[in-house]
Amino acid sequence: MDTNQLNVGVALGGVAPEHEVSIISALQATAALDRDRYTPVPLYIAKDGTWYSGKPLLNVDRYADLDALLDEAFRVALRPTPHGRIELIEQRESGALGRLMRPPRRIPVDVMLLGLHGGAGEDGGLQGLCETFNVPYTSTGVFGSALGMDKVMSKRICEQAGIPVVEFVSFREDQWAYDEEEGLDQCEEEIGYPMVVKPARCGSSIGIARADTRGQLDAAIEDAFRYDSKVIVERAVEEMREINCSVLGDAHEATPSVLEEPKPSDEDEVLTFQDKYMRDEGDGGGAKGGGAKSAESAPEGMASLDRVVPAPLPDDRTEHIQELALRIFHLFECAGVVRIDFMIDESRQPSGQLYFNEINTIPGSFSFYLWEPSGVPFDELVDRLVQIARRRHREHNGRVRTYDVNLLSEKSLQGLKAGGGDEG
Ligand SMILES: Nc1ncnc2c1ncn2[C@@H]1O[C@H](COP(=O)(O)OP(=O)(O)O)[C@@H](O)[C@H]1O
Ligand SMILES: [Mg+2]
Repeated sequence: MDTNQLNVGVALGGVAPEHEVSIISALQATAALDRDRYTPVPLYIAKDGTWYSGKPLLNVDRYADLDALLDEAFRVALRPTPHGRIELIEQRESGALGRLMRPPRRIPVDVMLLGLHGGAGEDGGLQGLCETFNVPYTSTGVFGSALGMDKVMSKRICEQAGIPVVEFVSFREDQWAYDEEEGLDQCEEEIGYPMVVKPARCGSSIGIARADTRGQLDAAIEDAFRYDSKVIVERAVEEMREINCSVLGDAHEATPSVLEEPKPSDEDEVLTFQDKYMRDEGDGGGAKGGGAKSAESAPEGMASLDRVVPAPLPDDRTEHIQELALRIFHLFECAGVVRIDFMIDESRQPSGQLYFNEINTIPGSFSFYLWEPSGVPFDELVDRLVQIARRRHREHNGRVRTYDVNLLSEKSLQGLKAGGGDEG
């Protein structure tokens, strides 16, 4: 066997509404992994938070019957090692007879490919676990992931950097419960109808609603609090075009992709969860993202949305958006592949006002459908993600992280005691 062969732990599923979407994204990327160099090792996070591994988890068709699939998979726990890799250790029920028959399976993992959308998989939680276990991982770090997940904080960061964002206010649940009427007044005074209400840290349009009256606004905010303890209320942009740009790279070098203009099924509505992920094959034109080597029957996830690629915009506007996307990538200290979403308010003349809307630090389908027309095929994209993860890990490990002096050694403690410790 090639000694340079790397085991790539593919994290998929997750405790988030986008569980199934994550399975699609992660298995699309797995299908694009060069098997001569990389061996995929699934790490499936079930909806109840338990972790599994096992080959059948790499087959998207098997997820239709989850009980049968999990019967063939096995529970695992993560174990750090001193060498910058982790091990997946098979977990057995204590007292199981199987324990006597063979030792638990141990699978080394050299780099984690994070294919989770939403929740702890995207908000820095899992990134923090990888940092703590000192294993390379393919996404933006803890800081940028947490910031990027938060629609309020990410808008503030961009605003502060002089990048326009639509007018917004935000509420925490405790504030809201304290004075609802005052909150509604504030929205009406500072924004005005129509408004869009969103949970601050969700995705896939979950919990998002439009409000045209005070009654609707109140109901929409209450509903959004079912998903998150923080809510953002924005001016609804009525004559809107949405334009997205992916960026690939890290602090050293980063490249913007061609732009996409996604199209909702109903021109008047926001893009829904259904629009994004549940379009049927042949349900309209647009540049569907074929090309993935995943099973033919597999759903296409984010790649199934109707979109125009490249977005029909004048060259100077395209370049301006790409430059902004690069700036935002660096503001959030991103790494790997991200997608930055903009809105154009066409009612603001002369040529429409551009706003930053949100950043997705683990974009649906890893945005491969934007990279193919940008000259980066999916296998190369995944390869770059792995190489960026390893480079960041090497750099991080090259810095001073511990001191060799043991402050708790006999000699040091004597010094402490002499200096008036508990004997003093
Ligand atoms: N201020 C707004 N005005 C009008 N439509 C909006 C506004 N904000 C979001 N939308 C619509 O709602 C969709 C989802 O909102 P977005 O902020 O992208 O959240 P998510 O993380 O759920 O994708 C957008 O794609 C867009 O169609
Ligand atoms: Mg969005």
